Amino acid sequence: MYNPFTLESKTILVTGASSGIGRSTAIECSKLGAKLIITGRNAERLKETFLMLVGEGHQNIEADLSDDAQIDELVEQLPNLNGLVNNAGLTETILTQFVKRENIEKVLGINTIAPILLTQKILKKKKISCGGSIVFTCSISGTCVAVGGNVLYSTSKGAIHGFVKNAALDLAVKGIRVNEVCPGMINTSILDRGKIGEEELRIEASKYPMKRFGNPNEVSYGIIYLLSDASSFVTGTGIVIDGGFTLQ
Ligand SMILES: NC(=O)c1ccc[n+]([C@@H]2O[C@H](COP(=O)([O-])OP(=O)(O)OC[C@H]3O[C@@H](n4cnc5c(N)ncnc54)[C@H](OP(=O)(O)O)[C@@H]3O)[C@@H](O)[C@H]2O)c1
Repeated sequence: MYNPFTLESKTILVTGASSGIGRSTAIECSKLGAKLIITGRNAERLKETFLMLVGEGHQNIEADLSDDAQIDELVEQLPNLNGLVNNAGLTETILTQFVKRENIEKVLGINTIAPILLTQKILKKKKISCGGSIVFTCSISGTCVAVGGNVLYSTSKGAIHGFVKNAALDLAVKGIRVNEVCPGMINTSILDRGKIGEEELRIEASKYPMKRFGNPNEVSYGIIYLLSDASSFVTGTGIVIDGGFTLQ
């Protein structure tokens, strides 16, 4: 059947695949014919994702991306890739005046430094080649909006926004594309980890034009477009997936 978004014969690495957007992306990519390498820290949840993948030949590799040595080990184990989804991330709610070095290192370590290093090491080892697509899960936070208490998260994603544009320019001549998706609030466990209360979440959702947060698969489909050959002339840009939140 004709499908310009097919991922048949593509091998794709998804980080942060043990839950949320990464899990959904891995599953949806597998349904479109890709071979997946999935990674995360939590072995049990990573295995759960692995068992949900459609088709054969997938691989799961545990790695803590805050540790450079584990990034190196992960890269060593990788086959040649057609796609890389830099999705692993975390949030920490903190006001500007309380920020300490350890908070900066924690949030930027995973959201900014790890995906940049992983990308660099994959490129250096020539594990992604001409026709490859690199997608970052960025955010509307740090690219379009500011939210109270979100200063470090926004900073980490704003840096990725800049990286995407510059890396896209550097890699265009090699035929490797670099893009981002910028989701608004999506129903995943990251919302709990940000320690936002139920009532606060309800109020936040009511601020969305569609009166709800997004679901992980609604982000995955944007990532899939950017991974697929349907987006072969798209690089250095982002897709905002926020139910119209940033229109207001
Ligand atoms: N949900 C939202 O509202 C929203 C909005 C905009 C952007 N995003 C972005 O979307 C991405 C995915 O988040 P999510 O919402 O799906 O949250 P999630 O369900 O909490 O998933 C986060 C993933 O990142 C992985 N991760 C965290 N620290 C890691 C580390 N040190 N090493 C390796 N993996 C690590 C987690 O793995 P383990 O659990 O195995 O440690 C998990 O698989 C993040 O980059 C986030 O910033 C989310």
